[in-house]
Amino acid sequence: MERRPDLVLANVRIPGGRKADVAIRDGRVIHTGAVTSGIQTIDCSGLFVLPAAVDAHVHMRGGKQSAKEDWKTGSASALAGGVTVVVDQPNTIPPLTKPGAFLSRVHEAKEHSLCSYAINSGVTPGTPIEEMWAQGAMAFGEIFYAPSSYSDALDSGDLSRALGRIRALGGLATIHAEGIVPGKDTGLAAHDALRSGLHEKEAVIAVQAGNTDGCRLHFCHMSTAAAIEAAKGTVEVTPHHLFLSREKTCDENALFKVNPPVRSEKERERLWTLWDRIDIIASDHAPHTKAEKTLPFPDAPSGVPGVETMVPLLMAAVLDRKIMLSDLIRKTAAAPAALLGIPPSGFSPKDRADFALYPDAAVIIEPEMLHSRCGWTPFEGFRAVFPSTVILGGDVVYKEGDFFPANPTWFTGKGYVPPS
Ligand code: NCD
Repeated sequence: MERRPDLVLANVRIPGGRKADVAIRDGRVIHTGAVTSGIQTIDCSGLFVLPAAVDAHVHMRGGKQSAKEDWKTGSASALAGGVTVVVDQPNTIPPLTKPGAFLSRVHEAKEHSLCSYAINSGVTPGTPIEEMWAQGAMAFGEIFYAPSSYSDALDSGDLSRALGRIRALGGLATIHAEGIVPGKDTGLAAHDALRSGLHEKEAVIAVQAGNTDGCRLHFCHMSTAAAIEAAKGTVEVTPHHLFLSREKTCDENALFKVNPPVRSEKERERLWTLWDRIDIIASDHAPHTKAEKTLPFPDAPSGVPGVETMVPLLMAAVLDRKIMLSDLIRKTAAAPAALLGIPPSGFSPKDRADFALYPDAAVIIEPEMLHSRCGWTPFEGFRAVFPSTVILGGDVVYKEGDFFPANPTWFTGKGYVPPS
């Protein structure tokens, strides 16, 4: 006789309308339809059951930067926001541009992460790209076309050569497309002008022109409509560019300081007109301490936390009928999984059994609710819908503020060669 399912999610409103039970065994969905009972059953009546999100752009910090965040607090923050897979960026200290640093990063994540993860390789002229691919790098980058927190830019020639090598491997290059002009970085308007939308668009065009071998390009955290229109690769947009604008705070508020900059309200509205062109939403979760972010504007680092508020802000937009639930699921779960080549979470047999269960009501975001060590959020006062329960690989790993033992997976890139 067949073993009973480990978990049954009963009375799930499957996106599209029908009601069904979802049976889960060994971390995968085995059946969606009418199911008798599981070893554990959760009644999902009245809840939104979403395939859990993949956040393709987070900075989990750790090591010397543990006062900002580490794998434990960052991954707790992810789970509490309905994200079960994060892709860690390589601008760590030390940067992930050598196999040794990459392997210790994997080790650190294995030891401490509560959620599943993938880790990208950094790219510098000296990076052994082929070795990093064999070590399990998920993708390359974010590759900086202009300097940002903890990373220098790659010049055009080096970038072009690196893209050729990544192309030869069949890898994905993820690009931080920005340009900077010199000037005084005195406040949000100046920051926006020094790293303007026009420069973002020019950077996109220049990277594409240098991509003579036709490497697969993914543009990270795009902040302006014109730059998105110029992009030929996949496009990622963050919640801070969708929901924040310079006008929503005072000019000297460095809590909103981020690269690419938070733009004007007019530009933010334009960004929404390209909603259908946006392939994925990712948070660019870039925590810094409150002490660093309350330094005078020119001295404060760029970056905002966001992994925990990403889906909750979008869920509030669903309740407000601004976006469709199916779009939210595609842009936060299905599309990033497909982009990275990891199994999708969802309702079909063999899908990864990662789900987040949301109530039908929004709350107001307060920093005290959140789990990132940085202890602040640029979204304070915004409406959001947080998950009440989160499931990772068929196990309940988060429920109403409590965390339970998880069995996270390290998702490697396609070039991974396991040690013999
Ligand atoms: C990021 C960080 O702090 O690591 N900062 C940011 O403003 N986005 C780096 C980056 O992605 O540019």
